[in-house]
Amino acid sequence: MAEIRRILLIISGGIAAYKALEIIRRGRERGLAFPTILTTGGAQFVTPLSIAALSGEKVYQDLFSLTDESEMGHIRLSREAELVVVAPASADLLAKMAAGMADDLATTALLATDKPVLVAPAMNVMMWRHPATQANIQILRERGVGIIGPVAGDLACGEEGDGRLAEPTDILDAIEQSLPAPDLPLKGKRVVVTSGPTHEAIDPVRYIANRSSGRQGHAIATAFARLGATTILVSGPTNLPDPPGVKVLHVINARQMMGEVLKALPVDVAVCAAAVADWRPAEAQTEKIKKKGSEESRKLDLIANPDILATISRAGPKRPKLVIGFAAETEALEQNALAKLEKKGCDWILANDVSEAAGTFGGEFNKVQLFSHGLTEQWPKLSKIDLGMRLAKRVAATLKDPPAKRAKSA
Ligand SMILES: Cc1cc2nc3c(=O)[nH]c(=O)nc-3n(C[C@H](O)[C@H](O)[C@H](O)COP(=O)(O)O)c2cc1C
Repeated sequence: MAEIRRILLIISGGIAAYKALEIIRRGRERGLAFPTILTTGGAQFVTPLSIAALSGEKVYQDLFSLTDESEMGHIRLSREAELVVVAPASADLLAKMAAGMADDLATTALLATDKPVLVAPAMNVMMWRHPATQANIQILRERGVGIIGPVAGDLACGEEGDGRLAEPTDILDAIEQSLPAPDLPLKGKRVVVTSGPTHEAIDPVRYIANRSSGRQGHAIATAFARLGATTILVSGPTNLPDPPGVKVLHVINARQMMGEVLKALPVDVAVCAAAVADWRPAEAQTEKIKKKGSEESRKLDLIANPDILATISRAGPKRPKLVIGFAAETEALEQNALAKLEKKGCDWILANDVSEAAGTFGGEFNKVQLFSHGLTEQWPKLSKIDLGMRLAKRVAATLKDPPAKRAKSA
């Protein structure tokens, strides 16, 4: 997933602490990361090991831990996240927050934070209704702390009433709503991205394809959508789910891909990340081709497919402001990428090494070099997700301050 949003999760001492594990698990599926502070009370109910196993993040417990505190861990923790969430929030921790106490890592981080705070209380109904707890909640509310739940229902103590932790999905919805609005530098821009391989039919059961998984193209589309662009993804056949917030058009072959891309114009940016087959069988047979007796070889007539990148680069008045292509090379990367830049008439080429040794096709990582007219940039090895975000941010910066304008103002 594209840019991960970090939430500092504080788990305090209540029977509902086990539900924090569900919040972490489901939250990660929504692109949230949860560095966690576990209070002494919380550690009576869930273990740091189960939290760390689900979150993939460190679990902090000790205010005076040397390694964390040599870098003022409590301050760093409270500042690095975009939001602090206490779930479950025990009556005890709510009281300490209201009183401004700082006698452990959780309360100290809560006092030191400059980020919004959301609490999800959970306790026995009498504890919740107690005037002390209600007064503490009132104080926190007035200070701008967000409060979700508790909700009515059966309580773990056997009683019934208000006091149940809000449902993990509702807490996650509240988290997403409480997160500061992300920076949307591509709001109002329209982007088309192509992704995946194309399948070129030989007959109804056979086709010509390539090893593209679509992971890079899909990650690019996700990143553009996350930065606010209206994003259209034209995808060849892949095993990937449709990225959230992206309009996905599924196609099989190069001609269909070309048709959908042209229909998507005008756009501000086109990123051609699909591995489009250069050729297709001259004539796809309508019936399965049968092997004739002991036939040992067979010739397949191939004709050229339409060149999507070259076509949009020369689309006249409808040409996008920025046309970006990929060059998948197994040798002479720079030479081939520069030749492609000229031949296709696009603005940028991202050249990547797709030789077997590089493991790019189907892999998680990618390493590219960006070639533009008179500019070369070597990007470090990145996950395909991070590479997508780096590209989207680079495009946002370029649209805001195009090279010609930069040159004039310099
Ligand atoms: C079995 C058990 C269940 C508890 N459940 C809750 C609870 O659901 N909510 C709550 O506020 N306190 C509950 N408590 C009391 C807290 O654990 C206690 O106030 C503790 O000091 C809170 O620690 P904390 O400040 O680290 O949250 C429970 C205690 C026990 C022994």
